[in-house]
Amino acid sequence: MALPPTEYMSGRLLSKILVLILFTKQAASDDHDFTYNGFQSANLSLKGSAQVFSNGLLQLTEMSKTKKGYAFHPTPLRLKHSSDGSVLSFATTFVFAMVGEYPDVSSNGLTFVLSPSKDLPYAAASQYLGLFNATNLGNESNHLVAVELDNNRTPEFDDIDNNHVGIDVNSLTSVNASPASYFSDQIGGFQNVRLLGGERRQLWIEYDGAEARLDVTLSPLGVPRPRVPLLSSVVNVSKIILDHTYVGFSASTGVIPTCHYVLGWSFKVNGQARALDLSQLPSFPRTGPREKPKILSVGLPAIGLTILLLTIWGVVFLLRRRFKYAELIEDWEAGYGAHRISYKELFLATKGFKASELLGIGGFGRVYKGTLSSSRADVAVKKVRRESSQGLREFIAEVVSIGRLRHRNIVNLLGYCRRRGELLLVYEYMQHGSLDNLLFDQPSSMLSWEQRLLIIKGIAAAVFYLHEGWEQVIVHRDIKSSNVLLDVEFNGRLGDFGLSRLYDHGDHPRTTRVVGTLGYIAPELARTSKASTSTDVFAFGVFLLEVACGRRPIEPRADSMKLTLLEWVLECWRMGAILEAVDPNLNYDYVAEEVEMVLKLGLLCCNCVPAARPPMRQVMQFLDGDAPLPALSPEDVSEGVIALWKDEGFDQFVVSYPSLDKLYCSLRLLQLQITGYS
Ligand SMILES: *[C@@H]1O[C@H](CO)[C@@H](O)[C@H](O)[C@H]1NC(C)=O
Ligand SMILES: *[C@@H]1O[C@H](CO)[C@@H](O)[C@H](O)[C@H]1NC(C)=O
Ligand SMILES: *[C@@H]1O[C@H](CO)[C@@H](O)[C@H](O)[C@H]1NC(C)=O
Ligand SMILES: *[C@@H]1O[C@H](CO)[C@@H](O)[C@H](O)[C@H]1NC(C)=O
Repeated sequence: MALPPTEYMSGRLLSKILVLILFTKQAASDDHDFTYNGFQSANLSLKGSAQVFSNGLLQLTEMSKTKKGYAFHPTPLRLKHSSDGSVLSFATTFVFAMVGEYPDVSSNGLTFVLSPSKDLPYAAASQYLGLFNATNLGNESNHLVAVELDNNRTPEFDDIDNNHVGIDVNSLTSVNASPASYFSDQIGGFQNVRLLGGERRQLWIEYDGAEARLDVTLSPLGVPRPRVPLLSSVVNVSKIILDHTYVGFSASTGVIPTCHYVLGWSFKVNGQARALDLSQLPSFPRTGPREKPKILSVGLPAIGLTILLLTIWGVVFLLRRRFKYAELIEDWEAGYGAHRISYKELFLATKGFKASELLGIGGFGRVYKGTLSSSRADVAVKKVRRESSQGLREFIAEVVSIGRLRHRNIVNLLGYCRRRGELLLVYEYMQHGSLDNLLFDQPSSMLSWEQRLLIIKGIAAAVFYLHEGWEQVIVHRDIKSSNVLLDVEFNGRLGDFGLSRLYDHGDHPRTTRVVGTLGYIAPELARTSKASTSTDVFAFGVFLLEVACGRRPIEPRADSMKLTLLEWVLECWRMGAILEAVDPNLNYDYVAEEVEMVLKLGLLCCNCVPAARPPMRQVMQFLDGDAPLPALSPEDVSEGVIALWKDEGFDQFVVSYPSLDKLYCSLRLLQLQITGYS
């Protein structure tokens, strides 16, 4: 019911409204200038895992994985323009610290943010820093400006390193970023600062509304404020934020538990932020709450023999248990703790590595199925026999970095465990097992051509990602159908990274055992034992032929005509009937152009000259039909090619792999035909 205004506004009500207006005005003026040396009395709005301790310490994330936390000034500010319409400037400074569970590795980071809300419910933790999710990145409707203090290098956001400061506008691809450092007058340049590691750091952010310039300055505590800002960018904040905006902090963790702390904060509109009183800042725990293993702390109560005997029995029991679940941990592994899974957990998960849980026996060891009790996740545990620790260090480093890779066509590595003489690798469990089981030896169910093409494209995307999409080039070294696993939707996922690297260490190149799998090994790999992205492309080519033909690369029992798959496909092509090579189980139920393209691409990838093999980027274009295959023809067969190989000192290889010489002759032929390709 609408009452006439005069009647509605009785005197009492009017005075109430006046009080309210006055009160709001009072609050607003506070909003434009506040300083907290510790947050006891701050009344911050806390969300997620954020909390303020009784000593005034603001903890944004606790020591745990995949958390996000927010702390905002409770009322929104008008930062775009004042009542007279002029643009506002603001300045802020805060002291922060980050403590990871391990001194050198941390995940993710902390931001100072101007946000349209005090809570970003749709935002994700980990690399999204609690600000964005995968779908709203870059969307102007985010209305977010942030300064990130980032401990991770996330390639998808073009991060420069794993210790940087960046200015983010509606996206995590920073408009400007720089390695964390401060300008030192002493050295006349920038000096690096580690964000992580439990040392207190101070950040200043100043925005000049008239010039639309945002300056960011970092320094370790105890160093006078640097003269030169670390970042200075033109960012018209007025264009980005809403009329009312919240100011505060967000932080997130991913795989490695990390605490993000803010110790003091001051903020001022139109002026310098007040200096913080460093002596009043709250203290914080410098180390993570890492639990030490409980050692036998049984005191001997002098009550009697029984108890003594019981104790001895107990000790023996515990020692046996410790022996049963004994693991090997060396100093260099300290940083990888988060990726370790205890032997006990794996032992229980696989029912003591029971034979009934055995999924298969691969080139590197046995694989068991298990269910982790902590997460209820189904896993595949691979036991790799490994006597010496040579090469292991590099391998573990790679495992850990690969453990951070996330690609939908890669089998995720969840962690590892070491025992004397043994390495255990824990992977996601793949429902449909390995591809070779569904391709060869009269499988119980057939993969359709459509499924096969999907698998091929998936694996191409995975190999491309390894070669070009990640911060370092990763050579897989053992691409083959038995290393391709199928998930519940029959997507192909590549597994078993870099394992072969463990086995090709330090020997003289001439006598090196070639690592990889016979039939997938590029000729130059056999010669020099140097794996590269092009040896991967070669193996990928063989893989294409396998999938299309449903045959192993080398079938010893096949009649001599069909000795190698490569040769056979080539022969069919020469006869003008390349489709003869296609898997007969497909019953001609396929798109001929697609199969033909895959077969020819396979041969192209198997070129014996590495430079003539297409890079994976191009392979993807061919597969997606975005680029036509170069015109090839299988002609001019001649017998003289062995001589060419011999000229290259290849005879030694031919001698040691007599069954393969023919294979490489064919390749050589192919290479003669495809010229000028790069
Ligand atoms: C603290 O902030 C909340 C809003 O988040 C507000 O409702 C409350 O009145 C504030 N308390 C004080 C003491 O300022
Ligand atoms: C991402 O955030 C937006 C809001 O910004 C939300 O509408 C969307 O559902 C979120 N997407 C996901 C995948 O959570
Ligand atoms: C940006 O986000 C809004 C609201 O969430 C949505 O309607 C719009 O489609 C998004 N724009 C783009 C380009 O994703
Ligand atoms: C920033 O954007 C606002 C709104 O579009 C505009 O009025 C103002 O002139 C811009 N400031 C600068 C310095 O470009």
